[in-house]
Amino acid sequence: MNKRLTVRDIQALKAHGEGIVCITAYDALQARWAQDGGAHLVLVGDSMGNTVLGYENTLPVTLEQSLSATAAVRRGAPLPLVVGDMPFLTYQASLDEAVLNAGRYLKEAGADAVKLEGGRAMFPVIERLVAVGIPVMAHIGLLPQSVLKDGGYRLHGKSAAEAQQLLDDAKAVQDAGAFSVVLEGIPTDLSEKITASLEIPTIGIAAGPHCSGQIQVITDVLGMTGTPMPKHAMTKANLYETAVKAIRAYAADVASANTATAK
Ligand code: KIV
Repeated sequence: MNKRLTVRDIQALKAHGEGIVCITAYDALQARWAQDGGAHLVLVGDSMGNTVLGYENTLPVTLEQSLSATAAVRRGAPLPLVVGDMPFLTYQASLDEAVLNAGRYLKEAGADAVKLEGGRAMFPVIERLVAVGIPVMAHIGLLPQSVLKDGGYRLHGKSAAEAQQLLDDAKAVQDAGAFSVVLEGIPTDLSEKITASLEIPTIGIAAGPHCSGQIQVITDVLGMTGTPMPKHAMTKANLYETAVKAIRAYAADVASANTATAK
């Protein structure tokens, strides 16, 4: 990768049958790792709420926190497509507010696109953002911003009725102009069917291998938390263990130096 990717480049990857590599990042350092590791798309997910900000879920994340993290990610990763993830209540209240808030990701934070959660209900929002020139990544299936309404995180689309609703959601966000869609927490055969029925790329998480690409949360891939990983996590390292070991070694050095020079 030696030039900044655009939404058309992301779509071309699907056209060429190349898997689209997406990962979250929340600061400039993680963004540099993501870029150097070969990510095509870096999402500044509102998962920052529960992964790095210490909240229980994504709901408390503010627009200012998300914009600040997005600007940092852009500084750390000039080349991949950077997508700012619009937090809860920054795009649902009115179309004008959605445009003004989404526009800040492009104007102030250097993002290339925004992501928002919801299918058919978000048709007017996606259509309006795209009409004013803001590329939108949609997100259907398990919607973390709806965790209270749904009573927890669960697989969506298991019944025939729910599966049909998700197919309708996928078609709706494509028709509204989204350049791609995240499929989260849906059965493998359904994500395969949705992927086959759309022209835009599907990006899966906990949705099986048949999507146009995958997205993972960086703290899961790198094993940063020291807590049990979700079943869908594609964990490739244990940074938690490495970090704690290193800090223990540092602490031991300080302790023994203090003992040696104790007055
Ligand atoms: O916030 C996030 O990290 C996400 C991805 C898991 C798709 O929405």
